[in-house]
Amino acid sequence: MSARKKVTVVGGGMTGGAIAQRLVEMNIADVVIQDDPQFAGTLHQGKALDMTQSASWLGFESKITGCDGWDETAGSDVIVVTAGAPRKPGMSREDLLKGNADIVRAKVEAAAKASPNAVIIIFSNPMDAMCHTALQASGFPRERVIGQGGALDTARYRAFLAMETGVSVRDVHAYVLGGHTDTTMVPIVSQARVGGLPLTSLLSQEKIEALVARTMRGGAEIGELMKVSSAYYAPSAATVQMVAAILLDQDRLIPSAVLCKGEYGIQDIVCGVMCQLGAGGIKKTLEMPVSDDEKARIQKAAAATKELIALM
Ligand code: 2OP
Repeated sequence: MSARKKVTVVGGGMTGGAIAQRLVEMNIADVVIQDDPQFAGTLHQGKALDMTQSASWLGFESKITGCDGWDETAGSDVIVVTAGAPRKPGMSREDLLKGNADIVRAKVEAAAKASPNAVIIIFSNPMDAMCHTALQASGFPRERVIGQGGALDTARYRAFLAMETGVSVRDVHAYVLGGHTDTTMVPIVSQARVGGLPLTSLLSQEKIEALVARTMRGGAEIGELMKVSSAYYAPSAATVQMVAAILLDQDRLIPSAVLCKGEYGIQDIVCGVMCQLGAGGIKKTLEMPVSDDEKARIQKAAAATKELIALM
């Protein structure tokens, strides 16, 4: 058996495949793609073998396999759950609630049984509600059930700010907290900086509002353009940064969805806040100072998630 770390990607669709590819090419863990033959046929095995055959040119030793059952996933350090229906143009993430809850519950139960010490990262939508499903199905503590929405939405926000200011995206320091839906996302303006300068000193209020609105519809915009799938390049990049932070104990500060225990006054509801990610998952949460309006919107995001949970 390899001494390398192990990551299971549940669901071998566009997003699962992209996450698996980015991870195996980073050469930091063996990767297993788990999917169901009745949905995926042998597609996930094909993807895994195809990636394996890319190793000599790309130069990685990490192994990648596809499987239908759970034995092969046993002892994973991280489990990324992408299973479930993706969003189609015109659909909200919330429209996926009932169908995906059953899938996520079954997948997480099986995955957690095979890998009782893993950190679970939830990708499936509606992501905040699916984190509740995963917390319940796994019985894992909040430190080990993390939603990826904030990392993705932050990437989109930074991309739009970089496009507008003409500055390298690496010098844009801005974050998205709150929920991972078109209406509950909270791109934080009060703390956004470009090269140390407040965003509000560089762009007009009107421009900032337009970029915030575009960020909130970021996933919908891609869906409308791609038509055949929802986004997967930025989503996979964001997820893989979270996985790497955990596997390599990097202590990265990445906005992530977590079961809140008092952050911004939120109790026992999953919401996106700043999290320190390292070995074992969330090492701590940090309450970024935000404006009163932003704080109220973060609290509203949690309230909206609570309503979704009640529907399940
Ligand atoms: C997105 O925002 C699919 O939720 C994902 O693109």
